[in-house]
Amino acid sequence: MQYYFAPMEGITGYPFRNTFEKYFPGADRYYSPFLVANQTFHFKKKELRDVAPENNGTVNLIPQVMTPQADQFVWAVKVLSELGYQEVNLNLGCPSATVVTRHKGAGMLEDPERLDRFFEEVFEGLEKIEPHEGAEVVSQANGVPGISIKTRIGFSDVKEAMHLTEIFNRYPFCEIIIHPRLREEYYSGEPHRDVFGEMLNKLKTPVVYNGNLCTVEDVKKIRTDFPVLDAVMIGRGALQNPALFRMLRAAEEGNDPQGAALQKNELRPYLDELFENYSREMSGDVQVMFKMKELWAHLRVLFPESGKAMKKLKKAKTRADYESFLNEIC
Ligand SMILES: Cc1cc2nc3c(=O)[nH]c(=O)nc-3n(C[C@H](O)[C@H](O)[C@H](O)COP(=O)(O)O)c2cc1C
Repeated sequence: MQYYFAPMEGITGYPFRNTFEKYFPGADRYYSPFLVANQTFHFKKKELRDVAPENNGTVNLIPQVMTPQADQFVWAVKVLSELGYQEVNLNLGCPSATVVTRHKGAGMLEDPERLDRFFEEVFEGLEKIEPHEGAEVVSQANGVPGISIKTRIGFSDVKEAMHLTEIFNRYPFCEIIIHPRLREEYYSGEPHRDVFGEMLNKLKTPVVYNGNLCTVEDVKKIRTDFPVLDAVMIGRGALQNPALFRMLRAAEEGNDPQGAALQKNELRPYLDELFENYSREMSGDVQVMFKMKELWAHLRVLFPESGKAMKKLKKAKTRADYESFLNEIC
C-alpha cells in the first residue's frame, strides 16, 4: 500500500513537508499545494520556491497545477518537466468560490463537455512538447511527465460521476485521485463511498482514495471495502496525528500500531523546527505564528482536555506568548 500526503494550500508548503518528513517519515509521496498557471505564463516566485528541487531535499514531490486553459497547463507541464518532475497533477477539486467562478478547480467539473475539450487539447499539446533531456521513467509515450488528476465526483449532483468517469476513461492519465464529495460539500459530511466504488469499477486508470482517513482503522476499512486500491491519500488525518503513516506501516508489518503511536516528547522538536523553517521563508514571527495556528487548528484534536490552553494560543500575539502556550501543552 502506498500512502500519499495530500496537498493543503497554506499548510503543506516546503517548510512543512521537509520538517514533517524529517520527524515523521512514512509517506511515499507528497503533493504540492496548487501552483496557478495563467495567461502570464509565469509562476509566482513563491510557487517556484515551493517546487524547486533544492528546497525539497528527500521529499518525493508531485507538483500540482490549477488552470482551466489547456495551453497554460501544457506550458506548466513543460516548466515542471525541466525541473525534473516526471508527473504533474491537475487540480479538479478546489471548491472555493473564487476558484470555481473562474471555472478552475472543482469549477471544471461543472461543464463536462468543456472539460473533455480541455483534456483533448492537453494531450494533443503534450505530444508536441520535447521531452526534457535526461528524463528517466515516464508515463507518456513521448517522454514527457505523466498526468494525474485529483478530482471530486461532481459539482452538485452525484449523478454526474458516471459521465465524468466516461470522460476520464478517454485519456491516458497515470493516476486518478478521487475525493468522493461534490463541490458543494466542501470538506464536510460523509464521503460518498458508494459512488467512489462505482467509479473505481469503471475507471481504466489506477485510482487512489482520498477523504476522512484519520486512523489506522479508517484505512483498514477502506482497504477491506476496496481491495484493489494500491494507494490512499491522507490530509487532515496526518496533520492531526503526525505519527499516522508510521502507525499504518507498523500495522502493515503485522505489529500493533499503538507501538508506533505519537510520543508526547516528539511533538515539541517537530514544532520548534517547523517554526524555524517557516521563519526562514517568511518575514516576522507574526506571520509564522499565523501558520502555526493554522496547524494547531488540526493538532488540537490530540488535546481534547486543553480548552484553556487553546484559548491562550488563540490570544497569542508574540513568540513569547506562543512559547508559553507550548510549554504548557507539550
Ligand atoms: C486547508 C486545506 C487546503 C487544501 N488545499 C488543497 C490543494 O492545494 N490542492 C488540492 O488538491 N486539495 C487541497 N485540499 C484538499 C485536500 O488535499 C484533501 O483532498 C481534503 O482535505 C480531504 O482529505 P482528508 O480528509 O484526508 O483531509 C485542501 C484541504 C484543506 C483542508
